[in-house]
Amino acid sequence: MAVVVSNANAPAFEAKMTVYVFICVMIAAVGGLIFGYDIGISGGVSAMDDFLKEFFPAVWERKKHVHENNYCKYDNQFLQLFTSSLYLAALVASFFASATCSKLGRRPTMQFASIFFLIGVGLTAGAVNLVMLIIGRLFLGFGVGFGNQAVPLFLSEIAPAQLRGGLNIVFQLMVTIGILIANIVNYFTATVHPYGWRIALGGAGIPAVILLFGSLLIIETPTSLIERNKNEQGKEALRKIRGVDDINDEYESIVHACDIASQVKDPYRKLLKPASRPPFIIGMLLQLFQQFTGINAIMFYAPVLFQTVGFGSDAALLSAVITGTINVLATFVGIYLVDKTGRRFLLLQSSVHMLICQLIIGIILAKDLGITGTLGRPQALVVVIFVCVYVMGFAWSWGPLGWLIPSETFPLETRSAGFAVAVSCNMFFTFVIAQAFLSMLCGMRSGIFFFFSAWIIVMGLFAFFFIPETKGIAIDDMRESVWKPHWFWKRYMLPEDDHQDVEKRNA
Ligand code: BGC
Repeated sequence: MAVVVSNANAPAFEAKMTVYVFICVMIAAVGGLIFGYDIGISGGVSAMDDFLKEFFPAVWERKKHVHENNYCKYDNQFLQLFTSSLYLAALVASFFASATCSKLGRRPTMQFASIFFLIGVGLTAGAVNLVMLIIGRLFLGFGVGFGNQAVPLFLSEIAPAQLRGGLNIVFQLMVTIGILIANIVNYFTATVHPYGWRIALGGAGIPAVILLFGSLLIIETPTSLIERNKNEQGKEALRKIRGVDDINDEYESIVHACDIASQVKDPYRKLLKPASRPPFIIGMLLQLFQQFTGINAIMFYAPVLFQTVGFGSDAALLSAVITGTINVLATFVGIYLVDKTGRRFLLLQSSVHMLICQLIIGIILAKDLGITGTLGRPQALVVVIFVCVYVMGFAWSWGPLGWLIPSETFPLETRSAGFAVAVSCNMFFTFVIAQAFLSMLCGMRSGIFFFFSAWIIVMGLFAFFFIPETKGIAIDDMRESVWKPHWFWKRYMLPEDDHQDVEKRNA
């Protein structure tokens, strides 16, 4: 795969934020929205009785005896598979998607994504048995794999250089908005009997149709065209999106970037070389850590979790709407702060912040929520408040930075391959949490929060010692300004790689 991600710190070529680019960005960002919707919808649906009765009668039976075991009423491998199968499919799909992205382009890859989404929506909303439901989730997962590969790449290539960083986080913002919309839809459809869950699952069809028709309107990115030797079309596309006459400098720079990238025949092998180790290791571990903050225990299963601490169905779904809203709002704080305070500050601050929240929640549950019975009203309220404060910390740090850091720390030759590996790792660890959380909640009870707390300590220490600040560093200057001076990573910066780099630059 030789996808090229344009140089984010390229000299600021003349460019306007044209209406056309704006429309393209909006349409592509719908891909993030669908991803978020799929994250948020499954938890609410899993808590709906009509849905459980139809597909998971054993869970429904157990739920009726709600006071017999708080922590285990939702523990069911198939129910977890309903959520997790999507991420497994996305993991596999992202490798195919990175091939279609480079061979066919970003636009067709997004079109494939929307077709997969539509098939998935049809199968899940119309499901008459568990097999149909799970196959539907797998199709949605293919859509997520294709969409999450193509959309961030498309956004970074189509945006004027000076807006590229902000636009990267727009993807995360759309994910959070998608989660919130799903939470709201869950809240309202839960009262529609007996088919509310069909409406909730079918809702993803609306953005999928927008993406399908929208992606017929949008342009292929100049980089993708030039990469496939369609230079004249690439130039034309660039003129169209930039809204200025003189696009020659930017055009030359893309051609140059494509030339360099095409010299690297196998970027995946290059990822295994010592010089790639710092961004590669950090990029993969960030995904592990992002998921082991425990965030998706909340995002997927918030309604279930809130019922566990004793809220009724309605209040639990409403609480999920509140955490979803906080998730969106705090992402804006992240967008605002990331280039001011820097990445390290946000990662370290939020590690302490999330640790305190997890500990408080764990202690209250351990002390006050027995295996049977419910929490008192004040304690249940404190739990919801600390879940909200916790989500806030995640949303301005490990959430967006888990995507931003891998997109800005790889050198051009391995940038796309490195990002594809990071996306797949993210899907893998998301799958693990989705598949295991309800069983872990049953087996570990309140201990699950101490489990996540321990991970947060590990990730905080990792960030402190191993994640360098990359704020304001030119994207192709990481080696000189970040890795070479770093106390640990400098050992992988071998002199012969400098030599190769210089040769390449002079070529
Ligand atoms: C994560 C998702 C998570 C979401 C929550 C994203 O950065 O990758 O797994 O559900 O943030 O907003």
